[in-house]
Amino acid sequence: MGRVIMVASGKGGTGKTMFSLNFAEMLANEGYKTALIDMNTGLRSLDLAAGVENRSIFDVCDIIKEVSTIDDTIIRPAYNENLGIIPGCQDIDSDKVIRKGIHSLVDLLISKHGYDFVVIDSPPGIGGAIEDIAEASNDIIIVLTPESSSLRDADAMEDYIIRRFAISRYYVLNNVMYDLLDKNLELTPKIIDSRMKSKMLGIVQTDINIRMSMNMGIPVVLKRNSYIANNFKKMINRYINYIKIKDKNKI
Ligand SMILES: Nc1ncnc2c1ncn2[C@@H]1O[C@H](COP(=O)(O)OP(=O)(O)O)[C@@H](O)[C@H]1O
Ligand SMILES: [Mg+2]
Repeated sequence: MGRVIMVASGKGGTGKTMFSLNFAEMLANEGYKTALIDMNTGLRSLDLAAGVENRSIFDVCDIIKEVSTIDDTIIRPAYNENLGIIPGCQDIDSDKVIRKGIHSLVDLLISKHGYDFVVIDSPPGIGGAIEDIAEASNDIIIVLTPESSSLRDADAMEDYIIRRFAISRYYVLNNVMYDLLDKNLELTPKIIDSRMKSKMLGIVQTDINIRMSMNMGIPVVLKRNSYIANNFKKMINRYINYIKIKDKNKI
């Protein structure tokens, strides 16, 4: 039985695309058949970060509009055959298309194509297509940074999700700079955790290698023994443990 994970944020630019790509690549590397969909309507970027922009012919809107099939559209990057990437719509006005087609798309990916996980790189904020993405998802991972504005928006996002959707909530704190923490110039993970109502999956530091890898179109976790790859692996293990506990409780 597959699971749909929505990667979201209140504020824009917190690292959703970076996190979605590396988390999905790592899930696939751990043996789970994983689909990664860019649902940023019109403002897509996942194809560039994943280094597959030259191979993207069709996109998620084409599948929903039945211009292309899932098989025609999904790209298997050379670095991981277990990962399937569906590029985002090119039309800036594609919100309606996403809203109409997301449910059947994720159903097909799981029931017909046998995906274990579908990771959705979502647009920031609330409302619009976010509602349908949340309805179609089992879990939400909120990506936030240790800034007051990011925390406030993540807080609002959490409240919106709690009020409206029955999905499990996790969060990842991205872009942490320990030298600022040492000088008391940044919100501490402890303060952030006391404000957030979701479970923390992990912390990602600000790292020039992450920034460079996004520009180069290579997931940073491909450097398998790096501290960053190990960190992502830990977050995967934590996430898998949480969902196993949930499944057990259901029985
Ligand atoms: N931990 C990090 N260290 C360094 N740069 C980062 C980190 N996380 C994200 N970035 C950079 O920040 C920018 C925004 O990240 P991105 O994943 O595109 O955010 P979003 O998808 O939420 O808009 C990108 O230039 C990315 O390379
Ligand atoms: Mg993005």
